[in-house]
Amino acid sequence: MERLQKVIAQAGVTSRRKAEGLIKEGKVKVNGKVVTELGTKVTTNDEIQVNGVTVEKAEPVYFLLYKPTGVISAVSDDKGRKTVLDFFPEMPERIYPVGRLDYDTSGLILLTNDGEFANTLMHPKYQIDKVYIAKTEGIPTREEIKRLQKGVKLEDGMTAPAKVKVLSIDKKKQTAIVQVTIHEGRNRQVRRMFEAIGYPIKKLKREQYGFLNLIGMNTGDIRELSPKEVKRMRALAVTQPS
Ligand code: URA
Repeated sequence: MERLQKVIAQAGVTSRRKAEGLIKEGKVKVNGKVVTELGTKVTTNDEIQVNGVTVEKAEPVYFLLYKPTGVISAVSDDKGRKTVLDFFPEMPERIYPVGRLDYDTSGLILLTNDGEFANTLMHPKYQIDKVYIAKTEGIPTREEIKRLQKGVKLEDGMTAPAKVKVLSIDKKKQTAIVQVTIHEGRNRQVRRMFEAIGYPIKKLKREQYGFLNLIGMNTGDIRELSPKEVKRMRALAVTQPS
């Protein structure tokens, strides 16, 4: 059983909010009867009509993409750049990315047509850990790493405490490989955190999102999440502290 507005949104007819408006306006019928109650639950057997047109229900799908750099995490780009959807040429469903990864960041990104799932994972109150591997220009000192661990001041406020670990350093090239775990999802957050301590990032990759990782995958690979993984991700989101 799913809420009517969710089923309409998932089918790609319109957004969930607009679907709620249509329901309230009496434009939606379930099995031939007008329904104006927002909480109405429907099953896959129910026939739903919006403005007299039967809604073809989309099965929810969930994918993991190992995004290469040079790809935008949006469904279209006015500058004609490659988007994450270019990795799904055969996909009949209207999928979209869960959150964002910068154009110049590689790594794990989820795509789905399940708006509720995407919103849950992206909600700041659920704090899902994301693990990044950064290559920095210059080698941060222990004190500077501690600043990142405690939280640094960015133009949109202090960052929450982060797990930060230097994995290796290259003294000759003056670079470091640093693992960073954050649960916030602010725009270009990891890059801005390192800029704040004076070490610009040369390369950035998201290795892990919750318990999901990129093991066994190459850049540009996609794989479908198993139903168990989807369930675990949902459970992870709702059990995180707020
Ligand atoms: N932090 C960044 O700076 N960039 C990303 O793409 C993700 C997190």
